[in-house]
Amino acid sequence: MALRRSKKKLPAREDKMMKEKSKIEEGVFDRAVFMIFYGLLNKGIISSLDYPIATGKESDVYRATSGKRFEDQSQYMAAKIFRIETANFIHMQDYLFADPRFSHVRRTKREVIYAWCQKEFRNLQICAQANVPAPKPFFFSKSVLLMEFIGEEGIPDSTLKAVGSEDPEKDCETILGYIRRLYRAGLVHADLSEFNILMHGYPNPVPYLIDCGQGVVLGHPKAKEFLERDIRNVLRYFKHYGVKRDATEILEWVKK
Ligand SMILES: Nc1ncnc2c1ncn2[C@@H]1O[C@H](COP(=O)(O)OP(=O)(O)OP(=O)(O)O)[C@@H](O)[C@H]1O
Ligand SMILES: [Mg+2]
Repeated sequence: MALRRSKKKLPAREDKMMKEKSKIEEGVFDRAVFMIFYGLLNKGIISSLDYPIATGKESDVYRATSGKRFEDQSQYMAAKIFRIETANFIHMQDYLFADPRFSHVRRTKREVIYAWCQKEFRNLQICAQANVPAPKPFFFSKSVLLMEFIGEEGIPDSTLKAVGSEDPEKDCETILGYIRRLYRAGLVHADLSEFNILMHGYPNPVPYLIDCGQGVVLGHPKAKEFLERDIRNVLRYFKHYGVKRDATEILEWVKK
């Protein structure tokens, strides 16, 4: 399955693209999403949409090949497509409206999903500024986010949950360090766990934070609660490897 820009200018390009649509899973590619990709292809942001990396209830992540505008930055991108119909709209509101950056967003399902996509983009920008390994954000349009593809030779990396840690003391320390750097940059990830960390590079894999859409700025009333939860999730995971760290001490250290 590939959605690829035709080199020739066809008379009914849109029709041709609509036929391509039928090759791609129903549901993710409704007409609105299809038109977003049509625009991304035409603007030279991507040159093809290659294959699904992960499909979920709330979003689908595809590998895309970069277009002319981005090919000097990276060969591939990850395209995250937020589903409008099946997204957990109620859950999202808790993380969105109380974040001062998004308090003005209109409370329709579509507007909430678009804001969520923008929120993940902006949170990834903060990760980059804070020097925390996470996909570089490239572009977003409505419900589609394009970011750096974390993988090797076109193959996506696996999560910490899937591959485990070869050096648990070090990986735990590294991830806690990311939490601290992000906190100092004014952000809490708020969904941190072994499921949202990719292990990148061989033979010494480096943890990369992904799935940053839930992240909130410190002005959010639950920022402290989310910070504590992130720390506890990380410590819970590494405890299985025998890593012993005290959550209260870590919390003090992060906030210092
Ligand atoms: N930048 C990326 N590069 C490579 N793979 C990625 C990237 N971003 C996400 N993925 C893959 O897609 C999966 C889902 O991404 P993500 O966690 O951001 O979405 P999600 O909607 O929260 O999904 P889930 O509900 O499974 O957590 C990840 O577990 C990972 O395998
Ligand atoms: Mg996830």
